[in-house]
Amino acid sequence: MTPVATMDEEYTHEPVLLNEVIEHLVTDKDGTYLDATLGLGGHAEAVLATISAQGRLIGTDMDPQALAIAAERLQPFAGRFRLVRANFRNLSQTFQVELGASGPFLTGALFDLGVSSLQMDKASRGFAINHEGPLDMRLDPDSPLTAERIVNEWPEEQLTLLLREYGEERQAQRIARWIVAARQDQPLRTTRDLKELIEQRLPRTGRLHPATKTFMALRIAVNQELENLTRGLESIAALLRPGGRIAVISFHSLEDRIVKHVFRSFEEHGGYRIVTASPICPSTEEAGRNPRSRSAKLRVVERNR
Ligand SMILES: C[S@@+](CC[C@H](N)C(=O)[O-])C[C@H]1O[C@@H](n2cnc3c(N)ncnc32)[C@H](O)[C@@H]1O
Repeated sequence: MTPVATMDEEYTHEPVLLNEVIEHLVTDKDGTYLDATLGLGGHAEAVLATISAQGRLIGTDMDPQALAIAAERLQPFAGRFRLVRANFRNLSQTFQVELGASGPFLTGALFDLGVSSLQMDKASRGFAINHEGPLDMRLDPDSPLTAERIVNEWPEEQLTLLLREYGEERQAQRIARWIVAARQDQPLRTTRDLKELIEQRLPRTGRLHPATKTFMALRIAVNQELENLTRGLESIAALLRPGGRIAVISFHSLEDRIVKHVFRSFEEHGGYRIVTASPICPSTEEAGRNPRSRSAKLRVVERNR
């Protein structure tokens, strides 16, 4: 595991399915690759170490802190990469100039979905049940919607729907009712307020904390993760050269379902071939070493004309 030292902190984010990503993504060592979810730059570093001196990498992320950390990490490859702050849902607009100048220019694009340890482990970002922080959960700190606004402002029916659809939470209606009742006394401000509200009312069954699904649902809604994924995959297709590949690592069934359906629709419309008939999962060794990898699924599609 490579610790990434920054100005005053150290983050350890082990890139998931690293060898499998490189093996399936890098088809031409002189090509241009996009890491659409740069994070702390673990996958990007491996791509740069694999491609030739003529090969190039573009890294995008909507979190400026992640971009700053990755920029430091990738310094040994200076001159061969470029980092851009962007939401991947708009990739074809972000790279409109390049597209206009040379047509589809990417040999491969990677989406490693979700959050990195930078976001998950930092209490002030508000993602983690076990670190007390503000109910924030924004990947893009300039986005107007926070988890705090959702829990304190959304009507009960909308909260129920969110917990049911994004959290697949069976107790959605009850949790939404508890949130609405609690906020009438006092707004919910911190991860601890929300965590305690749920754990005091729902018994723990199994390994998961009873608020896990609520936290996941809020994160998905705050960052519009599912809409971004669909639009991001459709958007990237326009930038891909024939022979180029898109690799996506997803971490839960809602994401994996979208990836599967979008790839299938690419294939049905012609010009694409699904490379992974079933998703690639981490080895037992990786799953044992890196618990975060356990739910990971890698799917790959190739543009063939
Ligand atoms: C799991 S991390 C990537 C980790 C990276 N592969 C590594 O090895 O360090 C996911 C990253 O994607 C970013 N992200 C998620 N959704 C995004 C979106 N729609 N547009 C741009 N970046 C996004 C997050 O900010 C986060 O930094």
